[in-house]
Amino acid sequence: MYTTQDIAAIRTQVRQWRLAGKTVAFVPTMGNLHQGHITLVTEALKRADHVVVSIFVNPMQFGQNEDLDAYPRTLAADQAALEAAGAELLFTPTPAIIYPKGMDKQTFVEVPGLSEELCGASRPGHFRGVATIVCKLFNIVQPDLALFGKKDFQQLMVIKAMVEDLSLPIEIVGVDTIRESSGLAMSSRNGYLSEAQKQQAAQLKRTLDEMAEAIAQGQAIPNVVQHAQEQLHHAGFKPDYLSVRNAADLSEVQADDKQLVILAAAFMGSTRLIDNLSFERA
Ligand code: PAJ
Repeated sequence: MYTTQDIAAIRTQVRQWRLAGKTVAFVPTMGNLHQGHITLVTEALKRADHVVVSIFVNPMQFGQNEDLDAYPRTLAADQAALEAAGAELLFTPTPAIIYPKGMDKQTFVEVPGLSEELCGASRPGHFRGVATIVCKLFNIVQPDLALFGKKDFQQLMVIKAMVEDLSLPIEIVGVDTIRESSGLAMSSRNGYLSEAQKQQAAQLKRTLDEMAEAIAQGQAIPNVVQHAQEQLHHAGFKPDYLSVRNAADLSEVQADDKQLVILAAAFMGSTRLIDNLSFERA
């Protein structure tokens, strides 16, 4: 696997592949890779001839008081894992390469509506940062398709909306959430948790499962949500939001909506975890 910080080198390699009639898939990440990220690469290889990965801890999507500086950076281990998974090209730019003018002085991409609620409400500017970096990376790599985890369900919806709104010729593929055996969704931020906190945090997925079951059985959503909030408090979480939405567009649930998604964000200590569960009700 070839690792480079050079935009021109990425473009040259991808152009060569495409001239040879090969397809190119792209997996953007912030590094500190776990099995969730690696699954995106293996899914990418099922769908394309070559896989490009990026590792960039994007300052534009972090808020003032968030964990930008503390965010784990583990390049050597990440390179070994990507190489073993079959990725061929790794882009590892610096903030100065991506935002040479400074990130406050450059053009941005913002998907209205979707970006302002749920994680967007708790993290103002977050999805502007995500949409802007993903759009830039798409223009640097110019892949045929790009893969994103459903773990970040709202992020996946924001990217799909951006691609549609800006007519980008890139297919977006969503990949199921990879979990620990406890049910805890894999996340780079799990590394901030103690072993005891990890055990407690597994309650988040159990709560989502129970909520889906109760709603599918016909229980009223507000009651289910209130009970679940109490359960999360008991498990040691400080819930940020817990919301049941239409899975197609994240709008508020209407009486006849069948495909639903429960989205949750909750603090375990100072670590903010997110998870979600899609399900169908009769
Ligand atoms: P990061 O958190 O590193 O995640 C990179 C990709 O891996 C995202 O598409 C995310 O949804 C996916 N992912 C993370 N945990 C997963 C899991 N347990 N199962 C399946 N997929 C999982 O998301 C970002 O980086 C950034 O916002 C980024 C899109 C790279 C833009 O900076």
